[in-house]
Amino acid sequence: MHIYYNPGNHTFHLCNRDISYIMTVLPNGQMGQLYFGRRIHHKDDFSYLLETRLRPMSASVFDDSSLFSMEHIRQEYGLYGTTDFRHPAVEILQENGSRISDFVYREHEIADGKPPLDGLPATYTESPQEAKTLLLHLEDPLTHIRLTLLYTIFAWGGILTRSARLTNHGAHSVQLTRAMSLCLDLPDCDWEWLQFSGAWSRERYPKLRPLEQGITAVDSLRGHSSHHQNPFLVLKRHTADETQGEVIGCSLVYSGNFLAQAQVDTYDTTRILLGIHPAGFSWKLEPGASFQTPEAVMVHSVCGLGGMSRTFHTLYRERLARGFWRDRERPILINNWEATYFDFTQDRLLDIAKAAKDCGVELFVLDDGWFGKRDNERRGLGDWTPNPQRLAQGIAGLAERITALGLRFGLWFEPEMVNRDSDLFRAHPDWVIETPGRHSSHGRFQYVLDFSRAEVVDHIYDRMAKLLREADISYIKWDMNRSITECYSGALPADRQGEVFHRYILGVYSLYERLTAAFPHILFESCASGGGRFDPGLLYYAPQTWTSDDSDAVERLKIQYGTSFCYPVSSMGSHVSVVPNHQVNRITPLHTRANVAYFGTFGYELDPGSLTDEEKCAVKEQIAFMKQYRRLIQFGDFYRLASPFGRNTAAWMCVSGDRRTAVIGWYRILNGTNLPFERIRLQGLDPELPYEIWEDNTRRGGIYYGDELMHAGLITSDASAGQPLPGERPGCDFDSRIFVLQA
Ligand code: DGJ
Repeated sequence: MHIYYNPGNHTFHLCNRDISYIMTVLPNGQMGQLYFGRRIHHKDDFSYLLETRLRPMSASVFDDSSLFSMEHIRQEYGLYGTTDFRHPAVEILQENGSRISDFVYREHEIADGKPPLDGLPATYTESPQEAKTLLLHLEDPLTHIRLTLLYTIFAWGGILTRSARLTNHGAHSVQLTRAMSLCLDLPDCDWEWLQFSGAWSRERYPKLRPLEQGITAVDSLRGHSSHHQNPFLVLKRHTADETQGEVIGCSLVYSGNFLAQAQVDTYDTTRILLGIHPAGFSWKLEPGASFQTPEAVMVHSVCGLGGMSRTFHTLYRERLARGFWRDRERPILINNWEATYFDFTQDRLLDIAKAAKDCGVELFVLDDGWFGKRDNERRGLGDWTPNPQRLAQGIAGLAERITALGLRFGLWFEPEMVNRDSDLFRAHPDWVIETPGRHSSHGRFQYVLDFSRAEVVDHIYDRMAKLLREADISYIKWDMNRSITECYSGALPADRQGEVFHRYILGVYSLYERLTAAFPHILFESCASGGGRFDPGLLYYAPQTWTSDDSDAVERLKIQYGTSFCYPVSSMGSHVSVVPNHQVNRITPLHTRANVAYFGTFGYELDPGSLTDEEKCAVKEQIAFMKQYRRLIQFGDFYRLASPFGRNTAAWMCVSGDRRTAVIGWYRILNGTNLPFERIRLQGLDPELPYEIWEDNTRRGGIYYGDELMHAGLITSDASAGQPLPGERPGCDFDSRIFVLQA
């Protein structure tokens, strides 16, 4: 990896084995973008990539020429108000009412490694050799506001991270009304736009459409990254697919309101903007103060969508997630939520725990309902003291009993929320987010605590830390079950109300930071009514996320498949739950529920005491299987083989780092009669190695070379007409099989 700088023409070339990113100081002093893509040779001069031509109706920068207009120039951080008419990266409302800025190059720094971003989650390095960072310092000569653009190129992979910092060196306060993390101008629009959309219980379905002139965008204005859209966008060439072709993925390391947008102009160039949503946002920048944007991560791949995903997986698993659990196999857990909801006693919980322990489960998680007067959704949130009616010996007593069984103990919190019917609300009614004089809407009868206020975060920290010190707690599920409405903080003046959404998320991050620092051995799993905050921001603190409240195996195929475009298998909370399923009422076979849940952190969300003896045996075998293969599944390379969208069969696989072992999940939604013969082409194997194949624990005869399995394919045809071969299981609806390959 290298960052070249040519002082003669002020050109910067950031490159590693996979990518080149080239930019230059333009004749007007601003920064122009020349190239982003596959690695190209370094030269001293790339100025031919800057095209300045006369176009009617454009406005020109220089008095003596009509050739130079920012309208046609690809920029590093676009500005509106002079000659560029596209949506800008930054907008600053100044004392005189003007919003025009002119950021010109002043100086730069090149450093080894990657600096942390103050108060914000971000990717990191563990040694200075892992990356190089360029800080470009620009300044507006009129306002004396300094803009620092940060670029980090990693030594491996097509990865470039970006963010921006604005510092007011002027004499007057200004209002920042837009500050994007990433602005990327591309020379053409020959791309398809891939976004990940959904709703509660059907998060992150991939949606593909061609880019057209005009705006294509997804966003969240809900105060969290949301079930509805994800802060992640992909541009792919029309011919690119899972295994080949050019793809650019852009991901925002942030958990609040965001905007991800592509604007194709009339000359068919494309501007990507990604960052905090400008709607409703403003930030008062007083003299001397700075504002740091969240980080955006760009991944360029010439190995298609699969190549892009695996780069994100490695980066987010190894250099975004942190701490004790980052590289550790995740405990197989049982969560009581779908088994009991609010209806439990200590004895009931212990029965569940004992039965789970008998099957080989390692961690018992007590979900909602253990605190305050919380016997339904309407009360108790905010009162983080155990309910003595349910837990006579408190959380410490329950944890002691659970750990005596040989299980670890985990606990649910929803730290950011309060019910009106709670002691916390009665003591501090002014601690909720609501607008004076306006009706306050609720979500699930709960209100959002004003985490922009340090004293609120301090209070919640003290309550949580007290419990964590008193009881033997190994895991926290951190839930968040509503969007933010009537956003306003009673603690901030009128001209700072545009800061509340962002300050709220900074408060969430600060609580996570304090808790993870004080209790480094606790495994955090984030959750927001399932996958409403499945984003890289939270993965920095919590290495796993409850992927969705929908635990049905067929639904989960789609959700986990879509989630895998950006997020690693180790981050996806996935459980086997009871049938009929509580979300869709579907009855799927136990083996398929496990075969889907294996491709995540794995656990159970049911009462094992209600299983038949045969089912208990099957669960024991499932847990033994997962214990054997979870390192490979959670930390190996993940390949999507067949999409569950619009098809009857789906498949994916994980391959160990040395490519000697692989686990393949194959799924068929509906059975049929006399079905076509079927095979799947595997990926990621060593073409030279001979593999043995186990199909649902039974060895298939023969050996198969990696190249055979990748090019001729793995035969998955079965009887399908109710006439299985000797030893073959008859097919059924919602069927699935696991294949293990061993070199
Ligand atoms: C929503 C979560 O997604 C569920 O798993 C469960 O924890 C409930 N909240 C509890 O209220």
